[in-house]
Amino acid sequence: MLLFTTCGPVIDKRLSIMRHKVTIVGAGNVGGMVAQRLAQAQVADIVLMDAAPGLAGGKVLDLLHAGPVCRYDTPLIGTSTYDETAGSSVVAICAGLPRKPGMSRDALLKANTDTVKAITQEVVSRSPNAILLIVSNPLDVMSYVAYKTSGFPKARVVGMAGVLDSARLQVFIALELGISAEHVQATVLGGHGDDMVPLLRYTTVSGIPVTDLISPERLTAIIQRTQNAGAEVLKLLQTGSAYFAPSAAVAEMVTTILRGQKRILSCSALCQGEYKVDNLFSGVPVQLGEGGVEKIIEMKLTPDEEAAFRKSVKSVEMSCRLIEPSLC
Ligand code: 2OP
Repeated sequence: MLLFTTCGPVIDKRLSIMRHKVTIVGAGNVGGMVAQRLAQAQVADIVLMDAAPGLAGGKVLDLLHAGPVCRYDTPLIGTSTYDETAGSSVVAICAGLPRKPGMSRDALLKANTDTVKAITQEVVSRSPNAILLIVSNPLDVMSYVAYKTSGFPKARVVGMAGVLDSARLQVFIALELGISAEHVQATVLGGHGDDMVPLLRYTTVSGIPVTDLISPERLTAIIQRTQNAGAEVLKLLQTGSAYFAPSAAVAEMVTTILRGQKRILSCSALCQGEYKVDNLFSGVPVQLGEGGVEKIIEMKLTPDEEAAFRKSVKSVEMSCRLIEPSLC
């Protein structure tokens, strides 16, 4: 039975007490698309929350309307308060300012730190056993903000970036070769920023090293395009950041967690000694499952790869040191 008022929460009384509940905070383009993808996946009951009155309610009502056509009957709640988020298994934090054309992700640092900190405080008091999945930028720093603010074990705070960046690298390789991206395996390490580290040594097409298939010059261009992919979309859209691919990456991580799949995915995780990184979030291969970040996989890096990784981590470290005082 659906209970809703003009501007109040949209509450679906079918919400079950047995199944997982996933909360998405931020009903903008990314958050709305995450809700749509998870509704279609039917892996959990969904709460879409946004402080803007009516935004989450309107999108959830629209998603409910789509159900019969898209063959899903996922229970959904759209709300502008935190109460309905209680008892969530996973909370995806998609809220915060998006970049404007020409802006770096780091330019969002101060504003989004305050936003992510406030949201984290609200959700963790209501869902003390949740896994926090961070999407807000600058991603690795916002993951650190959520980790420090929540007091959760590091396994239960993870950032979405590597799945997105690796997908972009896969697509650019597929476009270069004129093939399907389906059998392109790509790995991107490091911070979710301009100096992310696409690892060509671990990038293959049906097991064939990509370096056997594409010239060094073209691979350099593909790496640069991958590092700049978010900005490329932003420049074309002008009105906001990408959301189809980021939301797909979030949904992939949520379903991997809820299904306990123990998949090895590139995610932003807290490294405490791994890859010689101390107490910072960075994109690394992790075993993702019901426990969240169950393990960080350490790959052997060449000196050049290690130097690129360290450079990528350095910019995250500087940003974390800047906002550290505000986290105490
Ligand atoms: C991107 O790379 C929004 O950071 C996200 O598109």
